[in-house]
Amino acid sequence: MSGTPPTVCIVTFGCQMNKLDSQLLRGELARSGFALTDDAARADVVLYNTCSVRRHAEDRVLSHLGSYRRRALREGRFVLGVIGCMAQRLGPKLIERFGFLDLVCGTHAFLRVPEYLRHVMAGQGPIVDVEGDGEVSFARAPGMRVGPHRAYVSVMRGCDNFCSYCIVPYVRGREVSRPPQEVVEEVEALSADGVREVILLGQNVNSYGRGLDGEDAGLAGLLALVNEVEGLRRIRFVTSHPRDMSDAVLGAVAGLVRVCEYLHVPAQSGSDAVLRRMNRGYTAADYRHMVRRARERIPAVELAGDFMVGFPGETDAEFDDTLRLLRDVRFQQSFIFKYSPRPQTRAANWPDDVPDEVKRERNQRLLAAQEEIDAERRAAMVGRRVEVLVDGPSKSDPAKLSGRTRQNDIVVFTGDRSLAGTLGTVRLTDSTVLTLFGELRQATVQHGGTELARLRRGHGGRS
Ligand code: 5AD
Ligand code: SF4
Repeated sequence: MSGTPPTVCIVTFGCQMNKLDSQLLRGELARSGFALTDDAARADVVLYNTCSVRRHAEDRVLSHLGSYRRRALREGRFVLGVIGCMAQRLGPKLIERFGFLDLVCGTHAFLRVPEYLRHVMAGQGPIVDVEGDGEVSFARAPGMRVGPHRAYVSVMRGCDNFCSYCIVPYVRGREVSRPPQEVVEEVEALSADGVREVILLGQNVNSYGRGLDGEDAGLAGLLALVNEVEGLRRIRFVTSHPRDMSDAVLGAVAGLVRVCEYLHVPAQSGSDAVLRRMNRGYTAADYRHMVRRARERIPAVELAGDFMVGFPGETDAEFDDTLRLLRDVRFQQSFIFKYSPRPQTRAANWPDDVPDEVKRERNQRLLAAQEEIDAERRAAMVGRRVEVLVDGPSKSDPAKLSGRTRQNDIVVFTGDRSLAGTLGTVRLTDSTVLTLFGELRQATVQHGGTELARLRRGHGGRS
């Protein structure tokens, strides 16, 4: 392209996967001669990367799009596009509703966005591509930084589980795993660039490797490979399906020093009848058994969970089972959602019969129970020493530092800024519901040669 490059602003809704896709697209756009900006009001091109998992997320995007009507009609050069899950789901219907939209591009085709933008900017009319070939390359994914020392790395896409409420298999398609070598190379590049913690990302990360051949297939094998990347300090992986929490994966968390004792395993409900209607493939007892196995194998493990309230037909008694499960497991963190019917899914054929006030009330009750656990859990940690990865100055109190424990708890502490990106030991002195406070006592010995030797023998040091 000649002259001043057109500026593009990507506005992202939804999950980490979407944020990673936006990052990937930014790289592609920069390579194709576009300039990137965060200022939507001044950008020549605004792209919405969208989420369909709940109706609320879609409604917000629709209202944003509506607000561009005047600008789109006034400024002939202005380009507005919708990409991602909502584009995949609604396709041409979006253009029917917003006649001024220039581009609708689904999840499978978004690497073609630069090419489409050039077409649109040359005045050749709007483009809708929701077909794609199902092949999104992982190869050029640069890893998404969350802070200077932490990054997400996509290891698989899509989902084959077809939970009855979930739109993901329809908008993101079938599971595809990224070859282990490619993942390792990306992690090596990130590590060389100062990243100390990677979060391996997949909708259903425990089934990583299905469909790939080779002896390294499987999440446990991948963790073992990534564990050896030089300079890296920590590894997490999200999101896990309770049914696929194999002994091999638990063994990898227990045995590999860099893999953190943190599992995000959505339970969704504590009622067998609801779990069956959700097509989750396990009972509440299976879930509890999985938690027991994880805790036996990995004594320091903490679990995070997702829950949904107000699923079709959910009775008070069924909800009480969920509340009980949340209380009994004592999650480190719970993400709680009100059920929202999604077109195409099986549950959308059933009446959405739990009134919104009831959903809201159940949501509040789960949140309150989790908050009680949060406060108790963190108060009980005061006095202990924990390993933190130092992120840098704390957002809430820039005179202090903040970091995370291996179990993903946020800690704010006094200490020297130059320690950002290193592991340290913090003595915990105080807590609130969601934050731990303390003093950095000493920098821990960084995982070096001896630790690597230990890790190859298959047993990791735990504090
Ligand atoms: N309604 C509400 N929440 C949903 N989730 C997935 N589909 C729906 C839906 N239709 C929640 C699940 C999932 C999380 C990412 O979003 O709890 O784990
Ligand atoms: Fe959706 Fe279930 Fe797949 Fe998670 S496992 S993405 S909830 S279908």
